[in-house]
Amino acid sequence: MKYLPVSADSIRRAAQILREGGLVAFPTETVYGLGADAFNAGAVAKIFEVKNRPHFDPLIIHIAALETLEKVADFSVLSKETRQKLFFLAENLWPGPLSIVLPKNKKIPGIATAGLETAAIRFPDHEAARELISLSTGAVAAPSANQFGSLSPTRAEHVRDKLGNKVDMILDGGPTRIGLESTVIDITTDIDKSRHGEGSGVKILRPGGTPKEAIEKLIGAVEDGSPVMDASKGLVSPGQLKSHYAPNTLLVAFNMEDIEKIAYEKESAYIFFDGSTRDAWISAQKSPKSAVIRVLSETGQVLEAASHFFETLHELDNGKILRIFVQLAPQGGLGNAINDRIIHACT
Ligand code: TXA
Ligand code: MG
Repeated sequence: MKYLPVSADSIRRAAQILREGGLVAFPTETVYGLGADAFNAGAVAKIFEVKNRPHFDPLIIHIAALETLEKVADFSVLSKETRQKLFFLAENLWPGPLSIVLPKNKKIPGIATAGLETAAIRFPDHEAARELISLSTGAVAAPSANQFGSLSPTRAEHVRDKLGNKVDMILDGGPTRIGLESTVIDITTDIDKSRHGEGSGVKILRPGGTPKEAIEKLIGAVEDGSPVMDASKGLVSPGQLKSHYAPNTLLVAFNMEDIEKIAYEKESAYIFFDGSTRDAWISAQKSPKSAVIRVLSETGQVLEAASHFFETLHELDNGKILRIFVQLAPQGGLGNAINDRIIHACT
């Protein structure tokens, strides 16, 4: 395995590996991706193997030019209205942390989309990623570069530690800017009524780096495909929801109103959204001096908090801590994406 910092030369070599059917882990603005040539079924199959990912879970296809869109998607079945939505989203939010589910082009092998007739397409806002994609075949299938169900990688070191011996190259571009995966949106609601039901609208399948509000400004109201966690609903106990993006350590979510119920425990760690909640918690404790405490954003900036989220979990998920308490983010915007990851991580 080669582990190289991003440079013109390493990107060229990585693109060569992709064209030859190999696997390259690379940075994007959201998280690190594990890439294979999207047109090469054999190469894509390796992704599933390395990640131990079930074959029913489709991959995101990454492009680096709008002209490539017609090579990975098939617009012929889209209504005029849906094309218009696609145009607005692509024009305003690409490149960026938004994956748009579209009817797939036949050139994309079924294994990449888990047999679905649709493919989630993303145009990342990261120079090295785009350069790599452009120098390869122009379309790179890439899930997050982690074992299926575990924490997403926001640094090249995370990939090296978990998948290092299973990939051909890791491109190190430093910590990722956004730190949470892209928002996945399905706009194909008018072409397959059996899947969506009559009259249902555009759906956000996964909240992520592009806030719902930014999407709604462009194309009107959209539905939440997965339940959005309400940060005012109180403590979320382990065992309620399906595990995903999960650390090995037990995670318990809480909101600000609950801080009195969160007692100091010797072998626990505490992740606060902002500095003022941490201060309130500390002053409510009798002897919290030696507590392991992390704050996602001292001043409560949601972008900063998002970028530290997975990284903080990676750091604390070290086998020494028995339980991690994590504060839910305020509702709305990227806060919904953070809360989605917290809830899924509470196993
Ligand atoms: O930010 C990201 O999206 C990162 C970077 C590497 O681009 N990628 C990523 O991929 O998070 P992954 O495989 O970890 O998550 C892809 C999500 C999954 O929830 C999958 O079910 C959904 O996208 N997805 C992919 N194709 C789909 C399709 N055709 N229909 C519905 N959902 C789809
Ligand atoms: Mg993932």
